[in-house]
Amino acid sequence: MNRKGNVYVSRLLPHPVMEKLKEICDFEVNAEPRPATREELLRGVRGRDAVLCLLNDRIDAEVFDAAGPQCRLFANYGVGYNNIDVPEARKRGVWVTNTPDVLNDATADMAWALLFAAARRVAEGDRLMRSGTFSWQPEFMLGADITGRTLGVVGAGRIGRNFALKSRGFGMKVLYSGRRPSPEFEAETGGRFAALDELLRDSDFVSIHVPLTPETHHLIGERELGLMKPSAILINTSRGPVVDEKALARALEARTIRGAGLDVFENEPNPEPGLKALDNVVMTPHIGSATVETRTNMGLVVVRNIAAALEGREPPNLVRG
Ligand code: GLV
Repeated sequence: MNRKGNVYVSRLLPHPVMEKLKEICDFEVNAEPRPATREELLRGVRGRDAVLCLLNDRIDAEVFDAAGPQCRLFANYGVGYNNIDVPEARKRGVWVTNTPDVLNDATADMAWALLFAAARRVAEGDRLMRSGTFSWQPEFMLGADITGRTLGVVGAGRIGRNFALKSRGFGMKVLYSGRRPSPEFEAETGGRFAALDELLRDSDFVSIHVPLTPETHHLIGERELGLMKPSAILINTSRGPVVDEKALARALEARTIRGAGLDVFENEPNPEPGLKALDNVVMTPHIGSATVETRTNMGLVVVRNIAAALEGREPPNLVRG
């Protein structure tokens, strides 16, 4: 009988995924209710044929060295792969894969959840209901209109497009920015390409959907926040470091923008301390793809990538850049 491939799994995944994994390989899993420590990761990867890793595992030359030259694949459970040194992997002939597409809806839905929560002060209202009472008044807890307003989508990839498409029900005007105009984005969403500065100046809502790269680090900083309307709301479900969080906290405190909805943070799991005291920010703990169905589907994508690599085939979701 052929030897099954041997895989390290850095965190327990949903049950149906673990069952599928059993069918295709032998594995050791970090079953602790926390990420693998650096030491556990370095020890865990040793001598494996493939590694299943998460966005909070930093995968760099030291980890590739620890794994050894027989390790063919690092399969990331997530679409973002800024945690992996991909050029280093490529140099060594190691495959890196991610989980695109299956989380487009869930992540775009989460951006909408934050947009609504921030615009209509949902979390603030919930806190109020739990802590006291209210009397209905004409100017009590006024929020921002959404229908018919201008939506700025930063990044025209799969999730940004999905997010923009969903605005159609609200009759919004869509602006988008990215490296270049995207005919598909325009055909699907009716959006118009704009330079980032123009988008920031003209949008009532700005939602970020770019990957974290050296070019997008602090893409939204003090200058960019300064371009936004005082009535505008910023949403981030991409990666924390795309926004200068200290500058954002200052802008929110000074009310130079109206509000923000954040699912991701520069130094996860901790938000910038200044944010916690502010009522005009809604924060969630990086749960953009966190639905039962999506987290399972992401796992099944990872299993397919591992199965291919263990059979010596190029995995379907190879990251190339
Ligand atoms: C989650 O943040 C992901 O990249 O899938």
